[in-house]
Amino acid sequence: MNNPKKDLLGIENLSDSEIYQYLDAADKFTEVLERPIPIVPSLRGKTILTLFFEPSTRTQLSFSIAAKRLSADVVNFSQATSSVSKGETLLDTAKNIEAMKVDGVIVRHSAPGAAKYLAERLDAFVINAGDGSHEHPTQALLDLMTMKQYFGAFKNLNVLIVGDIAHSRVARSNIFGLKTLGAQVAICAPPTLIPLEIEKCGADVYSNLDSIIGKFDVIMVLRIQLERQEGGLFPSTREYRTLYGLTRERVGKMKTDSIIMHPGPTNRGVEIDPDVADSNKSVILQQVKNGVAIRMAILFIHAGGKIE
Ligand code: CP
Repeated sequence: MNNPKKDLLGIENLSDSEIYQYLDAADKFTEVLERPIPIVPSLRGKTILTLFFEPSTRTQLSFSIAAKRLSADVVNFSQATSSVSKGETLLDTAKNIEAMKVDGVIVRHSAPGAAKYLAERLDAFVINAGDGSHEHPTQALLDLMTMKQYFGAFKNLNVLIVGDIAHSRVARSNIFGLKTLGAQVAICAPPTLIPLEIEKCGADVYSNLDSIIGKFDVIMVLRIQLERQEGGLFPSTREYRTLYGLTRERVGKMKTDSIIMHPGPTNRGVEIDPDVADSNKSVILQQVKNGVAIRMAILFIHAGGKIE
């Protein structure tokens, strides 16, 4: 990136060329990851902190692996075993960590804006690994990378995001990225799980999955976030599966050569059936694989690396 911003806080304000610089760098790191010894010295001497106040498997692990593949030192923070449990604030936690001289902070927090709050107060670069229902930019970048691998381009690509849009930072970041790159984006969910004014993001809105599922190249299924429901937003997980679950029968109505994506973790048997998640239309594990390369690209770019 010619002049990268210090931090990566969201996709909303990225230009198409900024998005492509992450995707292009990730392609180069995919090649590194295929070598017998998949390590480069690019970030030797740098220290990366993963600061996670919410649970994570994929994002925290893939950032740790990405940093190690770039020869950086990695420190992983877990809320459960930290002094946050004694009442220390987010800023005090971060300032204490920065006093120990870290170069980059990867933060996940339940509060929208938490990553921006830290970015404005720390010299270290800050990467948003998910802030409440706001954005999850690194997930969207790995999703865009995966779609590009399967379809080559975004123009004329039709993407349907199905599920809990109201609570989904993944949906928001993907809508912003896909619209910036020229794709057509639609969402489908029960009306109670569709946020107000989502049309302003440029997505078409549907609530009857069966009538539209055959039109799309990508069906991105979202997890029903049971932990973020205020209660009563849909009658039961059983009814949700009946109306919106990606079942084998619904997969039979999808376009030939279409793919199924899911950011994980999956609620098997709720938003996606187990045999569908494991089917040859599913690219869920390719998304996870791409997560390492895209996070290498993000760390490399924000730590000031230059692609030779
Ligand atoms: N997709 C995603 O963010 O997964 P984790 O919660 O496991 O990091």
